[in-house]
Order: sequence, then C-alpha cells, then structure tokens
Amino acid sequence: MTSRPRLLLGRRLPPRVEARASERYAVTHNENDHVHSEASLIEAAEGHDALLCCATEPLSANVIAKLPSSLRIIATFSVGFEHIAIDAAHERGITVTNTPDVVTNATADVAMLCMLAAARRGFEADQLVRAQAWDKWSSTMLLGTHVTSKRLGIYGMGRIGRAIAQRARGFQMDIHYYNRSRLEPDLELDATYHESPESLLKVSDFLSLNAPSSAETHQFLNRERLAYLPDGAIIINTARGNLVDDDALIKALRSGKIAAAGLDVYDGEPAVNPDYLELPNTFLLPHLGSATHETRDEMGYMCLDNLDAFFAGHPCPNLVAPSS
Ligand code: DGY
Repeated sequence: MTSRPRLLLGRRLPPRVEARASERYAVTHNENDHVHSEASLIEAAEGHDALLCCATEPLSANVIAKLPSSLRIIATFSVGFEHIAIDAAHERGITVTNTPDVVTNATADVAMLCMLAAARRGFEADQLVRAQAWDKWSSTMLLGTHVTSKRLGIYGMGRIGRAIAQRARGFQMDIHYYNRSRLEPDLELDATYHESPESLLKVSDFLSLNAPSSAETHQFLNRERLAYLPDGAIIINTARGNLVDDDALIKALRSGKIAAAGLDVYDGEPAVNPDYLELPNTFLLPHLGSATHETRDEMGYMCLDNLDAFFAGHPCPNLVAPSS
C-alpha cells in the first residue's frame, strides 16, 4: 500500500474539514492554532508533501526558498494569495491553489453589513443601548445616511464586487464601477463603467473596495483620491487593508469629508490603527468576510479537492498561475 501524503495544516480548520483531511492524508495539526513565524513555518514543513495554509501564513520568497524539497503543493484557505510569493513557488515547482467563488456570497453579505452599519451609525447605536444610556426616543437621535437610491461605486468588479452590486440593486442603488477591463454586458447589467478610478470616485456616495492587494492597488485610497469623493461619502472595505492609506482616511473621517467607514480588513491586521477605535463613525469587524459555517467548510473542502486532484495526478481545479 502506498503511504498517504503528509499534509501540514498551517492553522486549525473547521472540524469537518480536519476530519476529511485525516481520511486521505497523514495530517500534522497546529494544535494550539498559533500563527507561524517564517522560521517556525519552515521548521514545521519539514518532511511534508503538502501545506494547507491560511492568509496568516507568511510565504515570502525567502520562506519558499527554504521549504523542504518534499513539499510540492500549497493550498491556501483563502481567495487572496498576496501572502504567497507565487512566482518563487512556481520557480521551485510548487503548485499553488486558492478558494475562489465559495467566499463570494459571504463576503458580499459582510460588505452590505458594513455599508448599512456605517450609514446608520451601527456602532454608536449599539453602544447607546448597551450602556443603558438610551433614555427616550427622539426624532433627531442618531440620524444616519440614507442608503436607498444612492450611488454605489465599486472599485474592482470581480466576483465579490458583482455580488455586492446584485445586493445593492435590492436597495435601488445606482451602481458604478471601475475595473481593469470593462465587463461583458451580461455581467455589467445596468452598472456604469468608469475608465478611471478618479471618475468613479466623483460619483461614489458609497465606495466599496473590492480589488485584490497588489502593487497597483497598494494605498489606492490616499489623500488625493479621497478628495475626489462627494462630501459625506461612506467607505466600505472588505478586500485588503493595504488598499487604504489609514492616516488619510482617519483625517477625512475626523473632518467629516467622509461621513463613516465600515471596515473588515486592516493594513497590518490583526493590529488596527488605534485612531480608528477612537472614532464613533467607524464600524469595525475583525476580517469576517467569509466567516460563516457553510463558507468556511466549503473553503476547506475546496482546498482538499485541489490536494486530492494533485495527488491523483489530475489538474487542480483552482490553480493560481504565476504572473508571467
Ligand atoms: C480570503 O479568502 O482571501 C479571505 O480574506 C480570508 O483570508
């Protein structure tokens, strides 16, 4: 009997996913779910054929270079793969897969949660009730920004951007988007395409960031770009924290140029710029985009489907291709 491939789990995964992994692989678990440093990840990978990691695992070119030669595939439990030096992995002959599609609906739901909570002062309202400081109903208490029929700008109209647009249509929002290329009519539907991000910003009463983290999108929302937005605009970020220049956004939130922000992701997370915490007009979540029981199971199963295909000698369904 051939021995089972040796699989390192970078983090704990939902119980059903770990159980399925154990059926076909000799699994090394991360019992206390610690977040690996580069050094501990390299050490832990010794003697393994495969790594199932999360976006928390640092797989820089330096780490990739030091992984054992036995390790032939990395399946990341995330749609984003900016934590992996993809080209370095490919140069070493290591296959990389991710989890597209299955995170789309859950993440779009969280974008709507952030949008509504930011617009309707969700944080302040919750605080008022919990502090037992709500003494009477009043016609002017905690007035927020109307969502229905406003213009929603979506920066990055991939799967998640389009799922947000679909939901926002239910609020009769007027959908605008910027994307590296214009969508085909069957995907664009009634949305208005903008050829430049600045043109999009000018009409965005609400701006939802949905582009991947890359050199091109790094600190996209900076001081200059914030100035293009209508006064009192609302920002939603469920993509990656480093799309935002935090100091610039915090300044705009303080001045009222930006009325509110609903954020699920942060540059340098889990550390969060402490100034966000002081601001009443922020609604802050701890990177929960895909955090439903169903989605996290599906992400895990998708990772395992990719590993199964790889070790059976079949093409992996969700390959991450090198940049060139
Ligand atoms: C993803 O799938 O990329 C989520 O952000 C979780 O890391």
